[in-house]
Amino acid sequence: MRIALLPGDGIGPEVTAAAARVLRELPLDLELEEHLFGGAAIHATGDPLPPETLAAAQAADAVLMGAVGAPEFDGAAVRPEQGLIRLRGALDVYANLRPARGDGIDLLVVRELVGGLYYGARGVRDDGTVFDTMEYRPDQVERIARRGFELARARRRHVTSVDKANILDTSRLWRETVERVAADFPDVELEHMLVDNCGLQLVIAPGRFDVLLTENTFGDILSDVAAGMTGGLGLAGSASLGDGRPGLFEPVHGSAPDIAGKGIANPAAMLRSAALMLAHGLDEPAEAARLEAAVDAALESTPPPDLGGTATTSELVDAVLRARQP
Ligand code: NAI
Ligand code: MG
Repeated sequence: MRIALLPGDGIGPEVTAAAARVLRELPLDLELEEHLFGGAAIHATGDPLPPETLAAAQAADAVLMGAVGAPEFDGAAVRPEQGLIRLRGALDVYANLRPARGDGIDLLVVRELVGGLYYGARGVRDDGTVFDTMEYRPDQVERIARRGFELARARRRHVTSVDKANILDTSRLWRETVERVAADFPDVELEHMLVDNCGLQLVIAPGRFDVLLTENTFGDILSDVAAGMTGGLGLAGSASLGDGRPGLFEPVHGSAPDIAGKGIANPAAMLRSAALMLAHGLDEPAEAARLEAAVDAALESTPPPDLGGTATTSELVDAVLRARQP
């Protein structure tokens, strides 16, 4: 199975190297190949997503990405994040899965990833007004809703659909479409929740959630809240899935320029993304479960600085590899 590795910027290459070390030890036939992406690709080619990288990603069985972005690109015309938005769109990975668990919390954010505010028309008018627009087609909502209900079936069979239907027309379309899809899943319970209330509930009663189904921007924000409730960004992985291969697997965190180059980035978010890749991208659920368990054990025995410990990135990887021994 061919895996395209996109290290990117900041701590991206550090956590990608950590994942590669672990993946090479698995009893699977994995071919890992690195490609330029993000700020690193801008420096080398002027393009955050060079054609070679896009072609390699499209030809791979799965894409595992570090993170992109650096302060030097703030306000620049060509920015690393543009490459990420283009890559998600080109792979049509419309379903972003962001699990959060710990401390009585076990929820899955299912976020629409290739529509809405981040992909709508944008521009500047003659009078200086800048605008971004949120748009959804019914079929875009339908396919993410269907994915959310299917995922809920493998969990506790409860879906909370998040919107702002009291204000936004896109949210009213969202709600009607989710209702229609729900009719095909009578065994899954559906509730609707306004996004502001959802932010509150995530902080005061996160244990009530199973699957949180939501559009792109709301999901971006709420999943960071959920990550913050369960140990922080160093632990949160994600899977972005389309209807076939390849999926795109990446930690929720960014390039963390404040700790880049120090060798102390927590690789757990990346390793959990790699586990999601094994489970959802490569059909290797048993290896995924073993890796998840090894990461949990290593975090317990060898905590990194963001969890109050002192372990470096490579010491934590050593502990993961030890925990995987039978
Ligand atoms: P960030 O996620 O990079 O960092 C936020 C805070 O969390 C920092 O204090 C950082 O040190 C800490 N942190 C993040 N990951 C960690 C890890 N694995 N281990 C230990 N600590 C960790 O978010 P920030 O600072 O807002 O953004 C930095 C850059 O990353 C920006 O250029 C931004 O655009 C980009 N970014 C890229 C993303 C991506 O590639 N998917 C996602 C979010 C931000
Ligand atoms: Mg985000």
